[in-house]
Amino acid sequence: MTTLTTIAPPKVTQTKNLINGKWVDAKSGKTFKTYNPSTAQPIAEIAESDTVDVDAAVKSAKAAFEGAWSKFTSRERGKLLYRLADLIEENAEELAALETLNNGKPISEVKAADVPLTIATFRYYAGWADKIYGETVPVDSNEFFVYTKKEPVGVCGQIIPWNFPLLMLAWKWGPALAAGNTIILKPAEQTPLTALRIGELAQEAGFPDGVINIINGYGETAGDALVKHEGVDKIAFTGHYKTAQIIMKSAADTLKRITFELGGKSPNVVYADADMDLAVRGAMTGIFFNQGEVCCAGSRLFVEATAHDEFVSKFKEAAETHRVGDPFDPQTQQGAQVSQEQYDKILSYIELGKNEANLVTGGAPACDQGWFVKPTIFSGVSNEMRIAQEEIFGPVVSVIPFKDNNDLIRQANDTVYGLAAAVWTQNITKAFKIANDVRAGTVWVNCYNTFDPAAPFGGFKFSGHGRECGKDAIENYVETKTVWVSTQ
Ligand code: NAI
Ligand code: MG
Repeated sequence: MTTLTTIAPPKVTQTKNLINGKWVDAKSGKTFKTYNPSTAQPIAEIAESDTVDVDAAVKSAKAAFEGAWSKFTSRERGKLLYRLADLIEENAEELAALETLNNGKPISEVKAADVPLTIATFRYYAGWADKIYGETVPVDSNEFFVYTKKEPVGVCGQIIPWNFPLLMLAWKWGPALAAGNTIILKPAEQTPLTALRIGELAQEAGFPDGVINIINGYGETAGDALVKHEGVDKIAFTGHYKTAQIIMKSAADTLKRITFELGGKSPNVVYADADMDLAVRGAMTGIFFNQGEVCCAGSRLFVEATAHDEFVSKFKEAAETHRVGDPFDPQTQQGAQVSQEQYDKILSYIELGKNEANLVTGGAPACDQGWFVKPTIFSGVSNEMRIAQEEIFGPVVSVIPFKDNNDLIRQANDTVYGLAAAVWTQNITKAFKIANDVRAGTVWVNCYNTFDPAAPFGGFKFSGHGRECGKDAIENYVETKTVWVSTQ
């Protein structure tokens, strides 16, 4: 297996919490380790927050919301977001290396996707800042003039995962800041480093103290304290639906606004009339991009029975030539899984799959150090099996044959999830039928994993509440105020 190139690791400039414009240790003095997934070695000690630190961050965010930030005009907010985007662009190389170091994803993908999309997201929402407005309302009376305003929700707790640390931050901060909210971000405990660097850049950009706060720590402690705090008006969360269920219950007492972007078991459908080479490439991107640690991964691959054998043999060949290894090698296509926990979880699902279905390729660790897993394909899977129903969040795909459209749609929708779907066909009617009949937040036709900050993204059913990106995400961060003015 590939050995790791020795590179000079990027410097870790920040490991503390950002509260009220100051970088501070946790009050308790506690820290936790963050790791390099490709070596399984620790990189740095990070401040481990609890309720006291969260409380200080909430006070800071509230003071900024009511004070300095409320004096900013919409266009001034937009200007700061543009400035932050520029600073990210100026520091793109460093941020990309830090993301690869802490997450294990290939540097080539971070440079081609994570970083440019992060910059694009900040620029997109910078442009929204002065375009968030209400309406005049034609009530059935001449005695009143009625209009609506869009006002920020207030203090927003944002809890993000480790699979796209930079991009998830941008998806959360962009619309929240454009709309005039203040923020307390809790990065995933696995991958805090890029968020902390962006926190430094946000200070450099000129955001007033307290507008952006960052609290490091575990979900069950720091995250939970944020969710329960009465001074937090809204929680935006991305992660597992079981965590979302806990959050929803914990947020009930304070009736917080909540938006969720959760997981998936997305159907990727290949018809026999598809361009097979394109479909194979799409299946590869669908499941192996970002080591399969993607909420919208095409993990259920429905292949029309008449094309099944041809497709599986081409797919196997492609998976076996997929370059897994050192994420800092620009040729690498698949890096390390993020953590020991993820690695163990994926390998245990692989063992389950070996009992339930046929292993076509992979099915084992890919490197004798770090958390690497071989691209793994199972065939002979039926949709009821656990490997077809439960989110594995790794480079593991289930190939499920189907006979006709009814058979397909029934199975495609037979999941608790509804995040995404894709279809590969040259028949436009079949493509539209999938787009109409599959209950999912995004449908890709002859493409997969395409993203743009302008295009809403989110889930039906257990895949979430609300949408990120686009105009829709602004709605997550505003309250509508209706004003009645007597004209008599
Ligand atoms: P998770 O949902 O527990 O963690 C995501 C974030 O929520 C982290 O910042 C974590 O610290 C925080 N968190 C955890 N428990 C919390 C609580 N009780 N209150 C408040 N915040 C809390 O996900 P985890 O444990 O890292 O991964 C488990 C599985 O979740 C993965 O194997 C994958 O299937 C799924 N997942 C889905 C993601 C998505 O993009 N939809 C992202 C990450 C994980
Ligand atoms: Mg968890």
